Order: sequence, then C-alpha cells, then structure tokens
Amino acid sequence: MQQRLGVNVDHVATLRQARRATYPDPVTAAAIAEMAGAHQITIHLREDRRHIQERDLRLLRETCQTALNLEMAATQEMVKVAYEVKPDLVTLVPERREELTTEGGLDVANQRDALAQLIRHLRDGEIEVSVFIDPDLDQIRAAHKVDADRVELHTGRYCEARNAGERQRELERLVDAAKAATKLGMGCAAGHGLNYDNVQPVVAISEIDELNIGHAIVARAVLVGLDRAVRDMLALMRRA
Ligand code: PXP
Repeated sequence: MQQRLGVNVDHVATLRQARRATYPDPVTAAAIAEMAGAHQITIHLREDRRHIQERDLRLLRETCQTALNLEMAATQEMVKVAYEVKPDLVTLVPERREELTTEGGLDVANQRDALAQLIRHLRDGEIEVSVFIDPDLDQIRAAHKVDADRVELHTGRYCEARNAGERQRELERLVDAAKAATKLGMGCAAGHGLNYDNVQPVVAISEIDELNIGHAIVARAVLVGLDRAVRDMLALMRRA
C-alpha cells in the first residue's frame, strides 16, 4: 500500500516571516505540492505565530484540494480556531515557546481526562483527531483510551540516531508502536525529521499509512530551485 504524503509547508512561511514579507506564500506552495501529488497539506499554527498565520489557515481551508491537517496545541483557544475553520484533521502536538521545533511527543498518558474532553469536543464538530506521540506502548494505549482516531508517531529519535544500532532500535520501536496502534483500530502516521536519506525504512512499515514531511522538502526546494531563480533574475536584468 502506498503511504499518503502530507507536505508540511510551515517553513515556506518561516522564509516569509523572516522578512515580514508577503512571499513566499505557503498557500501557493501548498497548491504546487498538491499538483505534484501530495495527498495532504499539513500546517502548525503555533501560539507564537512564528511561521503559519491565521490568514494562511483560513485561505488554505478554502483552496486546499486534498486534505488539510492542522497541527495545534491542546488548548481551548486552538479548539475554537479549529471549530471555526474545520480542518479535515487536527493533530494535537505539545508546544513550548522556546523550542526550535516540536520536541518529543504529547504526554497523553498524563493528561487523559483533559485530552479526552478536548477530543470529544473536536469530534463533535466532525473533525478527525490524531495525537502526536512518541513510539511508546503506554502512550499508544492512552491515545486509544482518550478516543483518538489516529496517532502520529514521532520519528525524531529514529532520525537523530547516531549509529546504525541505535537507528535499528528506534526503527523497531516505531514498528512495535505502529502495530499496536493499528491493532487497537487507530490509523497510524509518522513524521518529524524524515528526509531523503532516512525515509525508506519508515515507508517499509506497512501499518503506517501516512507520512508528514516538511523541513527536508522545503530545504530541497530551495536548492533545486536556486539555479532557475538566478537565471530568471539574470534574464530580467538583461532585458532592462
Ligand atoms: N509531524 C508533526 C506532528 C510535526 O510537528 C512536524 C513538524 O512541524 C512534522 C510532522 C514535520 O517535521 P519535519 O519538518 O521535520 O519534516
């Protein structure tokens, strides 16, 4: 089974926000990703709004042709936003202001009651809910208990493994977690830190039906697009 690819366009917005400019627009990037075959567009509307803005979310809701996956903190403020915009899927992620990116999965096991209530609320609004968790069996069981439709397994430790043995152990944790999640009837995605060198062993885990990848794709787009971008500027200068 071919896994679905969710393209995370947050870092297109990072580039825009670096200059507080109007481009590059993550909405345009999302359309191009879809035309290239992406199955889903993923964005993280962070509390500090460091990359994706509410404007992006609202426009993407109108323009997205595939499915829109909104990563968000498990807060009432964000539930309100989700209720207004109605993404196809909400992925609950932990969020700390000072972190560079999402570090570690959501601790579902330690906040079961609050999460169960929040997830019920989202599902009442006909929004599918996933929780972003470490590949840990206690967290998988907790995700099932709070009635999550899906889990997304955090692949960060696998991606950051310093040697082959460590990488293999982390891969096995992903395999076990994916098997446990699907056995409990939940859908299973994976993501974080996946790139062109490390993605294939994760693709081989048949229980995983979706990958969400952002940084590596946007980073490659900058390099594969640079030659053309320089040529376009030179052509314009020659014509002046
Ligand atoms: N999945 C989740 C839940 C994330 O928080 C992120 C990072 O925003 C990703 C996938 C994508 O990670 P990366 O940008 O490293 O590919």
